[in-house]
Amino acid sequence: MKIFFLIGITLIGLTQAKDWWENGNFYQIYPRSFKDSNGDGVGDLNGIAEKLPYLKEIGIAGAWLSPIFKSPMVDFGYDIADYRVIHPEFGTMEDFKNLIKKAKEIGMKIFLDFVPNHTSDESEWFKKSVQRIEPYTDYYIWHDGIIDENGERKPPTNWVSAFRYSAWEWNEDRKQYYLHQFAIKQPDLNYRNPKVVTEMKNVIKFWLDIGVDGFRIDAVPYMFEIEADKNGNYPDEPINENCPNPDDNCHTKKIYTQDQIETYDMIYQWRELCDEYKKEHGGDTRILFTEAYTSLENEIRYYGDGKRNGSHVAFNFELISYTNMGSTAADFNKHIDSWLNKIPKDVIANWVLGNHDNHRLASRYGPARTDLFNIMLNTLPGNAITYNGEEIGMTDVWISWEDSVDPQACNTDPDRYYAVSRDPARTPFQWDASNLAGFSSSTNSWLPVAKNYTINNVLMQSRSPVSHLQVFKKLTKLRQEPAFQTKTLNEKIVHNNVLLYRREGKGDNYIIVLNFGKNSETINLKEKFPSITNKVEIITTSIQSKYTDGEIVDATKFVAEGEVGTVVVSV
Ligand code: NOJ
Repeated sequence: MKIFFLIGITLIGLTQAKDWWENGNFYQIYPRSFKDSNGDGVGDLNGIAEKLPYLKEIGIAGAWLSPIFKSPMVDFGYDIADYRVIHPEFGTMEDFKNLIKKAKEIGMKIFLDFVPNHTSDESEWFKKSVQRIEPYTDYYIWHDGIIDENGERKPPTNWVSAFRYSAWEWNEDRKQYYLHQFAIKQPDLNYRNPKVVTEMKNVIKFWLDIGVDGFRIDAVPYMFEIEADKNGNYPDEPINENCPNPDDNCHTKKIYTQDQIETYDMIYQWRELCDEYKKEHGGDTRILFTEAYTSLENEIRYYGDGKRNGSHVAFNFELISYTNMGSTAADFNKHIDSWLNKIPKDVIANWVLGNHDNHRLASRYGPARTDLFNIMLNTLPGNAITYNGEEIGMTDVWISWEDSVDPQACNTDPDRYYAVSRDPARTPFQWDASNLAGFSSSTNSWLPVAKNYTINNVLMQSRSPVSHLQVFKKLTKLRQEPAFQTKTLNEKIVHNNVLLYRREGKGDNYIIVLNFGKNSETINLKEKFPSITNKVEIITTSIQSKYTDGEIVDATKFVAEGEVGTVVVSV
């Protein structure tokens, strides 16, 4: 009887056991801007290794590195010339192995950015493809183009690149056009060629053998295009009348160049590979994150199709894509619900509020709301992604048109480049008030350091008892509590411009209060959430709040101050 009881307990324990990644806060490192160890003004792997203890200290479960591979840096590493070689500005393979070793010593996971859609045109694969050297001839998508009524050669279709202008570029050596859904120097790989599929699986295995814990997979929806017809031709995409300029990416509706059905299968194959790898080699689960700006339905398909598993973490861009400075509590509520209600019951939710492709969180939503958004990110169920610098409320840095280096900005006209420029969110990390914010000993950094670095940096915030960083650290610690490990929210309520929700576990009863508006609201929390006590304790709150951590307050007259987020617990 006793034995059965014990087995029963163990089985329950096993089925309920969480895998290591499920509730993590994962950190995106933009390597060029994180920490420069050799004084050349560009961040590097030894710099990252030096700062791993910082990540541990602020409660990060694992870090993904934007691409560190050999690259001409046209798209700052997203144009890869060799998937197996470390870019010299970042260091060497030895440096990378050392980074992995140090990370393992402190229990920090490291993920790489896997960029499957395209290589650099300086890749050997592309150069050989240009020369039709086997097996590379069909590694990319080539086409003769079409001859128009005037006898002139034109690109095969009206497809437009994400960075503007035709997605087809003429190659004089091969005398054909090649497809590039991003920059001209980023030719698209041909996933309809099984050799490419095998080649890329071998790249994944190569890095798993070196010891990485998984991959963030870049630009997933672009991997496949519609299959060519029997004459090798592709159809034009329908025109979007609301976007009349044919050079703009939005001019065509991406029905043949994105979200093709074959993409999901490719992700499922990569998941199988990671699962098999674990079976063969043991160790912890190797995980996949998928980057897909697409419809909610499509985002969710990356998780799996009910029969096969896909991505462990399908980046949830609902908040980043559909909310802004003016969004209300009702808007946030709607986008939180749409994700939580749509994802399959057996998968884990994810939340993204910042990355290297979007303006900084503090600039997008307003600096005063930095903590409010970090509180939201860390108290919703599932896992969270933090872009480096968001934990201290780094803001965008204005960079003139002349000084812009981001290809997306450089391809856009001077009068509207700023809206699309990604440079402002990629400036060097602000470590302290010394030269170049402690990022580099150089006189210059590849992008300018924010002017506010003397008053906004890690050192200052770690010494101050009240700072964004202290709030962030409290939050990552809080995430470890049982109440924050459940897959769903308890009640969620919108009260004017305040969003409130409850998280409960093992007897702890937390309420999260997020006031998106400018004005204070006095709320009877007890009335809204009858299960809480009359008095509640402040666990953490935005730095400008009049409440202090540890303070016991009357739940029946809780003052939700404007632009403040607060976590309270029943006492
Ligand atoms: C998505 C990446 O996040 C972005 O930075 C890059 O420019 C494109 N993919 C192309 O690789």
